[in-house]
Amino acid sequence: MGIWSAFAEHYERVFRPRPDAVEWLVGWARSAGREVAPGASCALDFGCGTGHDAAGLAAGGLDVLAMDLDPAMIDEARRLHEGQARLCFEVAGLSDFVAPLRRWAAAAARGEDAGLDLAVCIGNVAAHLDEEQLAGFLAELRPRLTKGSVLVLQTVNFDRILAAGSEAGRFDFPVLEDPAKGDLPALRFERSYERLTEDGCEFHTRLLVDGELAFEGSTPMVPHRAAAVDRLAEAAGFTSIERRGGFGRAPFDPATSGPAVAILHS
Ligand SMILES: C[S@@+](CC[C@H](N)C(=O)[O-])C[C@H]1O[C@@H](n2cnc3c(N)ncnc32)[C@H](O)[C@@H]1O
Repeated sequence: MGIWSAFAEHYERVFRPRPDAVEWLVGWARSAGREVAPGASCALDFGCGTGHDAAGLAAGGLDVLAMDLDPAMIDEARRLHEGQARLCFEVAGLSDFVAPLRRWAAAAARGEDAGLDLAVCIGNVAAHLDEEQLAGFLAELRPRLTKGSVLVLQTVNFDRILAAGSEAGRFDFPVLEDPAKGDLPALRFERSYERLTEDGCEFHTRLLVDGELAFEGSTPMVPHRAAAVDRLAEAAGFTSIERRGGFGRAPFDPATSGPAVAILHS
């Protein structure tokens, strides 16, 4: 079982929905003066997890195709958002999104070249890809974005993490906890990057349910620095790149920002 499959049923309690961030994302679909109108505006969510951001984008008036490589995450997303209008979930990775996108566009009679008004890839999904895969993803996506629209790509701020952890070769995140309530058990989610170098690390996770270890596992990740993402985006033909330190106006500071948000303009 992959690490995310193990967390699917608990994900929403550990990583809470963030309506302010979603509102900010919908705002990007309106950039360049475009109207957001159901049936006319569409967005992709890459690595959507259990779908809370995708559901928010759909509620904001966009037709949304949300994809994730992990079938258990997509099962949970479908269960949580069953019946929500303008929202479709598919199992697909960042490297194979074109076929599901074509099927989705055909089903909506939209035409494959209709263009996307927004794409999001947030929650550190891009760290699951190496540089070559990330370059391939950006190159496939860029021509499918309407001129003037953006890809919002967010990872943790690896510049800060490498500065703090590369000497020791590890970085520990604050523990995430959600106490027991009603029938729900207490959750404790521990995360660290191990064998951390410029080239890669092991993302190690432990999930404790009511104090009992429910899952422990690792997956490889690539600590993409902001400058590396910018270089790949430029090579893929994105015309300009804005950097923020969160989903809002906070400026990006490589030394201190928690998240690294790139707004890649098509
Ligand atoms: C931390 S979760 C983020 C989910 C969601 N975007 C959010 O911010 O809540 C990372 C997600 O990336 C997905 N993922 C990992 N590698 C992927 C890939 N190559 N293509 C698509 N999704 C991937 C995982 O299955 C997991 O659901």
